[in-house]
Amino acid sequence: MSLVIGADHNGLKLKKIIIEFLKEKNVEYEDLGTKTSEPVDYPDIAKKVASAVAQGKFSRGILICGTGLGMDIAANKVRGIRATVCHDIYSAERSRKSNNAQIMTMGAQIIGPELAKKLVEVWLNSEFEGGRSAPKVRKIMEIEKENFS
Ligand code: RB5
Repeated sequence: MSLVIGADHNGLKLKKIIIEFLKEKNVEYEDLGTKTSEPVDYPDIAKKVASAVAQGKFSRGILICGTGLGMDIAANKVRGIRATVCHDIYSAERSRKSNNAQIMTMGAQIIGPELAKKLVEVWLNSEFEGGRSAPKVRKIMEIEKENFS
């Protein structure tokens, strides 16, 4: 598993906390920014992270903004990407096991650091189960094929 992480200015503080957590757990990662408190547009960061995952440079990505919503919408516009907001443990687990989401997003204005660390841990330790979920994920990708030029 290779991991890439990104955040806008609203997610910067939580990103730093998550990076410390990844270091503690010996999880390797690449940080694609933002690295200063200067405001940035979340779609720019989402595009960088989601494109890197879609191109196969990384297998998983974490995106953090104020709500997790903008990052989620933007990341899902990159062909091949399944990104899900994860603000509870069950969703974090199912987003991997059922939806095979390669990117998790979180909102730093919504959840606290301890929950965020737990969500990352659960998400990183969950794998796609395939089985009955596989044809459904394939159908999602068919919708994408039909609608993205
Ligand atoms: C700021 O641009 C804010 O909209 C962003 O952090 C995020 O919450 C968007 O969904």
